[in-house]
Amino acid sequence: MNGNGAPREEFARDARIGLCESKRKWLPARHLYDAVGSVLFEAITYLPEYGLTRADHRVLRRAAGPLRGYIRGQALTIAELGSGSGTKTRLVLEALVPDLVRSYCPIDISSEALERCRQELGDLVPVLPYHGAYVDGVRSMRESRPADVPLMLLFLGSSIGNLGPDDRGSFLASLRSALRPGDYFLIGFDLVKPKSDLLRAYDDPTGVTAAFNRNVLGRVNRELGASFDLDSFSHLVRYDEAERRVEMHLLATRDQSVPIPLAGATCDIRSGETIWTESSYKFERAEIGNAMQEAGFRQLATWVDEEWPLLEGLWLAD
Ligand code: AVJ
Repeated sequence: MNGNGAPREEFARDARIGLCESKRKWLPARHLYDAVGSVLFEAITYLPEYGLTRADHRVLRRAAGPLRGYIRGQALTIAELGSGSGTKTRLVLEALVPDLVRSYCPIDISSEALERCRQELGDLVPVLPYHGAYVDGVRSMRESRPADVPLMLLFLGSSIGNLGPDDRGSFLASLRSALRPGDYFLIGFDLVKPKSDLLRAYDDPTGVTAAFNRNVLGRVNRELGASFDLDSFSHLVRYDEAERRVEMHLLATRDQSVPIPLAGATCDIRSGETIWTESSYKFERAEIGNAMQEAGFRQLATWVDEEWPLLEGLWLAD
């Protein structure tokens, strides 16, 4: 483990496959979040153009009170996929502690993020971090609870949007099979909105998102011994209306051949070629219900922000 984000071997493998062997160059979006990338993402959430996080805060503040009314029984374990900065989680936890919540289990591949989470939320509730992949974390909690203590799984802020339709379906289904019937799932989906709003949110005039994007190549340099010239890549954002996804790319502005020593391969990239670094899918309300139902969840309640359309919904594993 390198302590920030995915293990280095996995990053090296993805860099080899995505940057050196693939016809269309790409990197999985989770590699954007090393220590630098996590701080840059946090900065993004304060940008006036990026409405998503503020919308999520508004929605969760509204949902927090009513949430309690949907929970049967006297006790609840909370688990969260991707521990984030803890601010949003606090809104949910505060509504349910002290009486209802037994413990809070953040699940993350970043041990740093888990540590930060413990510092942020440890005053509210016992924090029991799980270091590893999402589905493994949920599965490991399946047998460890008494029969009368349901789990509430949190996946906030539309992180689900990083997965394409096929991966999304199988991911939701594998989460469902890692849960017990009667468990709860609070999950957020960013909704479709005007293209101009989306482009501004992901291509902000301050350049923070551009830095967040370029940093992933900085990370290839730092961790895999490469020497990409970050100045020769520009931040490219487009919205694919048919697929309903914002795409983030790094566009090469000159031809270059860059050895990546720890990946054991060389990235040959031509001017005009791009490295696809993230997809951020946007959702229609009807499609959310269908996807969740197909994965084996029953809807209990939904809350939508009107200013920046985003939906947080509470589902029950049937
Ligand atoms: C954390 C995945 C929800 O897709 O909006 C922000 C990440 N990327 N700006 C998103 C992100 C560029 C964000 N998620």
